[in-house]
Amino acid sequence: MEHKIVYQIYPKSFMDTNHDGEGDLRGIITKLDYLKDLGVDVLWLTPVFVSPQNDNGYDVADYYHVDPRFGTDADLDELIQKARDKGMDIMLDMVFNHTSTEHEWFQKALTGDKKYMSRYFFTKEKVNWQSKFGGSAFEYVEELDLYYLSLFDKTQADLNWENEAVFNELVKICNYWLDKGVRGFRFDVINLISKPKVYQDDEIGDGRRFYTDGPKVTEYLRKLGALSFAKDPEVMTVGELSSTSLKKASQYSKRDESGLSTIFNFHHLKVDYKDGNKWALKPFDFIELKTLYHDWQLGMVKENASMSLFLSNHDQPRALSRFTDESFEGATMLMNMIMSLKGVVYLYQGEEIGLPNAYFDTLDMYRDVESINHYHILRKNHTEAEVLKILKARSRDNGRTPIPWNHQAHYGFSSKVPWIPFSQSPNLKTVEENINDPHSIFHYTKKVIQLRKSDEVLIYGDIEFIDLDHPNLFIYKRHFNEETYLCIHNFYNLEVHYPYHYEAIVIHNYASIKKDTLRPFESIIVKI
Ligand code: NOJ
Repeated sequence: MEHKIVYQIYPKSFMDTNHDGEGDLRGIITKLDYLKDLGVDVLWLTPVFVSPQNDNGYDVADYYHVDPRFGTDADLDELIQKARDKGMDIMLDMVFNHTSTEHEWFQKALTGDKKYMSRYFFTKEKVNWQSKFGGSAFEYVEELDLYYLSLFDKTQADLNWENEAVFNELVKICNYWLDKGVRGFRFDVINLISKPKVYQDDEIGDGRRFYTDGPKVTEYLRKLGALSFAKDPEVMTVGELSSTSLKKASQYSKRDESGLSTIFNFHHLKVDYKDGNKWALKPFDFIELKTLYHDWQLGMVKENASMSLFLSNHDQPRALSRFTDESFEGATMLMNMIMSLKGVVYLYQGEEIGLPNAYFDTLDMYRDVESINHYHILRKNHTEAEVLKILKARSRDNGRTPIPWNHQAHYGFSSKVPWIPFSQSPNLKTVEENINDPHSIFHYTKKVIQLRKSDEVLIYGDIEFIDLDHPNLFIYKRHFNEETYLCIHNFYNLEVHYPYHYEAIVIHNYASIKKDTLRPFESIIVKI
């Protein structure tokens, strides 16, 4: 699978065709040629199922049908077929840790029906666990005089995988979509599905140590796989892991053990969290970033497991704004890095055009429930200006602004004002501008995608890290058969002296070489 490139689509912000200011499935269909031309193989769609959208689709009310805001079931069938005709597969996002409280099961549970209540976690006493979006993880239901567990928004009720009816239904959902021609699944926060039997207060944290990487995650995944996706080795799966460990992550994605094809871990995207707190800013720690790559790349190989390579997604600020000055060199340096590490590459919509962060100036520009909740939490100890600065750096909405296709009204994304504003960055360039400029980030991305998909050293090669403590450069080698590539990425906006020898250039984001020197954000992959 390492030769495939997955492209993540956030449908709501990709392309609107039904004039409601939100992207839709037909919008994706109109852009299939664009995606084909870019060279990606698999299109991962964040959830498009029926949902009240309290968490933008990660609160699913019906796993078998498309939410009308995204189109019809027939539109999804057509997208699957048309993508397939162009040689691309569709990966769907399965949110199986929780359902929306509007899901039929939860609604029946609310009437006091024990059969349905046992599909969730209802409890007489609550403990002090905090939800990921702020506030208690237990929500009170007056009619039942009970609490239910909701680790995210209070409208996302955690599912009880121990319940056989739940498990069987999840198998059925996977098989339903596989039968429809879907060739991949991304499993949302899948390491949270095994909950403890007894809850206890967490004296030193927010409770996550009690429900993360629980004892049965591997068993559940293998069972689910054996009955659905793992029957076909061509089906690609990726498990999103929250606050996991290398040991656990590698267990979930060991090759040939009918687990997941690969996993998402987020350690490398916390290197700018002060004291591990997402809402406290600090400049990113470059040495920590490299050390994490070193540990995870080698650790996963050792366990015969596969990791995914990604720097941005719909829950993250844009890597371009986070790690670089938003220049062509910055964008292409990151692109070279992600394409030359070991694993499966995931690109996020907009990365190919160097789309920067949102740069929203006021709270009313934000839409994300987590950002809005944290605005209010942070305001207790910070000034308005401080909180807006934090959101500007950390909000998930940074990754959710619509794609600017061209310079027509609403950047050609929609005929209406979009559901969320466009990025306000002066560095924003449209898709059209990118396509028309042969030296754009888009054209560079196309080139590096083609390289990554065809070059055996980059796909299969072993990885060896060098000079890990260098303050500016990220340096490693890839070895395959008799060949060795040297990869050097300058993460800083300054010139660095670093002598190296090479036989031939594989890919380079500057037009020429300056001997023994790496210029600002210069990145080079050479054969040695
Ligand atoms: C991870 C998803 O990527 C995120 O967007 C969502 O809010 C949580 N899981 C809860 O489903």
